[in-house]
Amino acid sequence: MKQFLLILSFCMLSLSASVQASGGYGITLEPAQNNLRDQDSLKRGAILFSNYCMACHSLKYMRYNRIARNLGWDEDAIVAEMAYGQSTVYEDVTTRILPGVAMDVFGTEPPDLSLMSRLKGTDYIYSFLRGYEQNEKGEWENHVLKGTAMPNVLEGIQRHSSEEEYAEAARDITNFLDYVGEPSKIDRLDLGWKVVAFLLVLLLLAYLLKREYWKDIEH
Ligand code: HEC
Repeated sequence: MKQFLLILSFCMLSLSASVQASGGYGITLEPAQNNLRDQDSLKRGAILFSNYCMACHSLKYMRYNRIARNLGWDEDAIVAEMAYGQSTVYEDVTTRILPGVAMDVFGTEPPDLSLMSRLKGTDYIYSFLRGYEQNEKGEWENHVLKGTAMPNVLEGIQRHSSEEEYAEAARDITNFLDYVGEPSKIDRLDLGWKVVAFLLVLLLLAYLLKREYWKDIEH
C-alpha cells in the first residue's frame, strides 16, 4: 500500500510538472483549440499563411503537392491558391523575401516555420499571433514575445473584422502550422486506436489460450 501511494504521488508530481512546463516562461497562453480534422480550416489557414506569412517565412520541409494531397486540393488549385502560379507543385514552400533583406529590415532572420508547432506548441503560436497590443505611443508590443522584431501582421484583420473572425484567422493559421509540423498526425492518432484494439483482442486470445493450456494441469 505504501509503495502504491509512493508511485501515485510520483505520478502526480510529474503531472503537475508537465502542466507547469506548458505554461512556461510566466506567459499565459490562450488555448488554440484548433482541429486538424477540419479541412476547411486547414485550407483557410494555408491561404492565410500564403497571404500573411510567406512574405517573410518559409516552410522548407513542406512541398506543395503534399499539402494538395492532404488537404484535398488538386495540383493546379494549390499553385493558384498558395503560390499565385509562381511555383510548381514539386517545390518546397519558400518565402517571398529576398535573401539578406530581412537582416537589414528586422535585424534578424524570420525563422522557418515547418517545425514551429512542434517546437513551441499550437497554443504558443495562437497566442503569439494574437499577442499584439498598442502602447500609449501607438507602437505595437507583443506580450508573448516581448520586443519581437515581427510586426503585427494580422493588424488588418484585428482592426477591421469581428473578434470571432480575428480569432478564427489565428486559429486557422495555427491549425495549418500544426498540420505542417506533423503531416501524418491524424493517421498516427487513428492508427493508435487500431493498435490498442488489436492488442486487446490479442490479450483476450492469449488469455483463452493460457486457460486452455493450463486446464489439465494441477496448479
Ligand atoms: C514582415 C515579415 C514577417 C511576416 C509577414 C511574418 N513574420 Fe513571423 N517573424 C518575423 C520575424 C522577423 C521573426 C523573428 C522575431 C524575433 O526573433 O523577434 C518572426 C518570428 C515568428 C515566429 C517565432 C516566434 C518565436 O517565438 O520565436 C512565429 C511563430 C511566426 N513568426 C509566425 C508568423 C506567422 C504565422 C505569420 C503569418 C500570419 C508571420 N509570422 C508573418 C517576420 C515576419
